[in-house]
Amino acid sequence: MSGIIGYVGKKEAYPILIHGLNCFEFRGYDSVGVVTVDKNEFELRKFAGKLAEFKEKNEANQPKGNIGLAHSRWATHGMADENNAHPHVSYSGRLAIVHKGIVENYSSLKEKLIKDGFEFKSDTDSEVLINWIEHIQSKSQKSLQESIQIALNQVVGAYSIIVLDKEENALYAARKGAQLVIGVGAEEEEFIITTDTSPLGGYTSQVIYMEEEDVYRLAPGEKINLLNLDNLQKSPVIEEFEEELHAIEKGDFDHFMLKEIYEQPKAIIDSYRGRMSAVEGWIKLGGITEYRNKLNKAKRIVFAACGTSWHASLVGKYLIEELAGIQVSVEYASEFRYRKPVIGNEDVFVAISQSGETADTIAAIELAKHKQALIYGICNSVGSTISKMSHAGSYTHAGQEIGIASTKAFTSQVVILTLMALQLADYKGNLSKTQLNSILYELEQIPSKVEEILKLDAEVKKIAKVYHQANNFLFLGRGANYPIALEGALKLKEISYIHAEGYPAAEIKHGPIALIDENMPVVVLATNDSAYDKIVSNIQEIKARKGKVIAIVNKGDTVIKEIADHSIEIPKTLELFAPLLSVVPLQLLAYHIAVWRGADVDSPRNLTKSVTVE
Ligand code: F6R
Repeated sequence: MSGIIGYVGKKEAYPILIHGLNCFEFRGYDSVGVVTVDKNEFELRKFAGKLAEFKEKNEANQPKGNIGLAHSRWATHGMADENNAHPHVSYSGRLAIVHKGIVENYSSLKEKLIKDGFEFKSDTDSEVLINWIEHIQSKSQKSLQESIQIALNQVVGAYSIIVLDKEENALYAARKGAQLVIGVGAEEEEFIITTDTSPLGGYTSQVIYMEEEDVYRLAPGEKINLLNLDNLQKSPVIEEFEEELHAIEKGDFDHFMLKEIYEQPKAIIDSYRGRMSAVEGWIKLGGITEYRNKLNKAKRIVFAACGTSWHASLVGKYLIEELAGIQVSVEYASEFRYRKPVIGNEDVFVAISQSGETADTIAAIELAKHKQALIYGICNSVGSTISKMSHAGSYTHAGQEIGIASTKAFTSQVVILTLMALQLADYKGNLSKTQLNSILYELEQIPSKVEEILKLDAEVKKIAKVYHQANNFLFLGRGANYPIALEGALKLKEISYIHAEGYPAAEIKHGPIALIDENMPVVVLATNDSAYDKIVSNIQEIKARKGKVIAIVNKGDTVIKEIADHSIEIPKTLELFAPLLSVVPLQLLAYHIAVWRGADVDSPRNLTKSVTVE
């Protein structure tokens, strides 16, 4: 997804802006652009393509100036070409904008502007927005800061924007439903406004997490000026943030995705550390403890999420219903937001999101909040929009995830959901002390069992080579492994572009079995759980139709090893924890297949790290 950054201060803006674009690179983008102000004129450079080429083109003649904006674009309105790339300059030539998000009512605003004589160079909603701001200011004769507030009041959508006024040598920033932070330099002499804190490392550790609908005016050496929605002055809250420098380096790994797969033992520990003790037999997820009464009385828990986080929600449903006996429903956030869902103040609404910025999930929360449900947020990104919108919640502590395909964020979400299910079960008295102790003891073994699975990397790589030219794949699982079949298929299609589908194993005989022939690889999650015998029968059905079976089995399995074409042996664990282990070989399989196919694993086509548009 697009990333935006602005700088104003005493340093050369260009290198700082380029550093910001470097930090956003992992999000996925199709064009980039920079504007600075040199001798009172805009110096505008745009490029449709990769950042490395843009840097090379501008190396010998870098744009000069101490104020500027930059943008990496993921096309929404208009083709991914130079014309539509940001920054966009207003009709009068005085203002420039970088914009992340969508202006939903841009066509009606554009019509009004055209009637008033404005002309447009691009097809973007962003160019409409900057002209709308200019139009409001020329009509109202108010300050630019107030005019931005008035203009945004008439804009429908979710966005973050930075506006540069070249006459005032100042930046203006505002956000709604998309994160924007301000790095504050010493004595307020310089400011970096950015989509997230990653570009701030090395510059400043003082940060303002902007509130929705506030409009900031930032000029070097001047006090930070902040207006709220009602045009009243507010005081900014400046906080310290901790840098996570190691996260943006690949180290010895070829790709961030592989590095993050290997970081899972640590991510799992980090997500349960301090929240449970196997020896003493307790679990304490802050948010759950705080809302104990409400959760105990909850008629229903409703999960809403997208993509991989939605798959984690399905695991959560399995765990909570199994352990705590509370009814759970799992919703696609994008569907929930447009229905008339039956939800009220006796329900608990759990939103799961790695980025905490997903537009559909944010909209679903708004709806559930409106209906008075308690909102529990499970996010990885600290200070994100969803974490701030929630009444209570838990951070997953997986560390920054850079690879577009989510891996360690998923396993840490599942750990939080496991703790949630166990804590609710404990409140309900569903588990004896001995049962709880032994479950938690096994949870503590999971990181070392994941380490063991990672040692199978070379073996998985060989299997990947055999199937890397396949056109289709099926993934099958039952019970808690069904969401893992979905997740395995999603990982594969995202990064290798092979068509893949996940199904509950028994469901294939109701249709998908028609697809099976000697060219169809079928990955079957066949660990030794309660449905083991059924899974054996499912594998036989596939083999009878000449399908190729790659089975994920437990160590020492002899039955499936006899019938499957390939078996990947993973350690045994409790059925509850099967998802945490069985997902790992599927992540490795998708990764190696993509590498064998020569795909761009960390920046797959058309994808973006956080989907801040509908
Ligand atoms: C898949 C993937 C996406 C995200 C989805 C939700 O690898 O990364 O499917 O899981 O876009 O994103 P978050 O969790 O940030 O809300």
